[in-house]
Amino acid sequence: MTRYSRITGTGSYLPPNRLTNAQLAAELATRGVETSDEWIVERTGISARHFAAPDVTSSDLGLEAARRAIEAAGLQAADIDLIIVATSTPDMVFPSVACILQHKLGIAGCAAFDLQAVCSGFVYALSVADAMIKSGAASKALVVGAEVFSRILDFSDRTTCVLFGDGAGAVVLEASDTPGILASDLHADGRHVGILCVPGHVSGGQVLGSALLTMDGKAVFKLAVGVLESAARATLAKAELTEADIDWLIPHQANLRIMHSTAKKLKLPLEKLIVTVDQHGNTSAASIPLALDDAVRSGKVKKGDIVMLEGVGGGFTWGAVLLKY
Ligand code: ACO
Repeated sequence: MTRYSRITGTGSYLPPNRLTNAQLAAELATRGVETSDEWIVERTGISARHFAAPDVTSSDLGLEAARRAIEAAGLQAADIDLIIVATSTPDMVFPSVACILQHKLGIAGCAAFDLQAVCSGFVYALSVADAMIKSGAASKALVVGAEVFSRILDFSDRTTCVLFGDGAGAVVLEASDTPGILASDLHADGRHVGILCVPGHVSGGQVLGSALLTMDGKAVFKLAVGVLESAARATLAKAELTEADIDWLIPHQANLRIMHSTAKKLKLPLEKLIVTVDQHGNTSAASIPLALDDAVRSGKVKKGDIVMLEGVGGGFTWGAVLLKY
């Protein structure tokens, strides 16, 4: 019998400190940085984001999301035999957030590692977990996207600091006789490292170079629109399906204009687009599982629905996972 993988539970968590655009603009004004609710909404679709308290880490956010996903799957933490955490804002240089999360879940022994593909991280991690389940290396995987991007934002740069937020999302992916994950398609192009990066690194007890996010927004925008369409089409072709089969499109939640443009290129009505960027901002690797959990718990995504997940981000990386929920 063919072995497939299937999502059996979703969960997410946002830190309680929610900042509207107006609140953020007022705070930035005290630093001499000028922005407005109107500008942010018009250019990005973002109205609010959540920021974690200074002592809260990606593993803390991931733990809450993981607990909810495990509960939704009807499992105990001890049942999990693989943990993959997609993050670009780890608690430490090492060990991985996945190992810290494993300990916080009160379990030990199963494989646990982080995957770093910035905003494409969750799609990459889901694809890797799917392959490991299909190969027999794991049966009950916990796949988490967890980020505290507020830690790497340059609050003197209005072109980037208004875009991002903190949060975590998680799914439990289990071995199944029926699919599940139908197809995935992953890519990277390292020629574009410089358009979206945190260029600093740790050396000799110091951070050398800047430890803050820098982005060429226009270059990212242009690349994102093209690759999101091509990844969706490649994934559909692998699964021998067409755009018409998609019930829900859940792209990386970075910018509403990019998301609308992707839906349009795929000839999907906007009612099929799951949008949480307005309330969460861009939470990088956490954005897709946060949006998926929101769509599942609000009753939009139902069992049997065909869902297209799409990530794009620093690297440059991009990819898609098509699944039957
Ligand atoms: N508030 C007010 N004005 C601003 C702000 C702000 N927060 N930011 C920029 N401006 C001003 C600029 O200074 C500029 O003014 P000028 O014309 O006087 O020079 C004007 O607004 C236009 O700036 P642009 O940078 O040209 O604005 P643009 O329309 O390109 O929008 C944006 C910028 C929103 C960043 C857009 O380029 C974008 O969304 N890019 C994609 C970003 C993205 O999706 N990144 C994440 C993907 S990957 C990942 O998630 C890690």
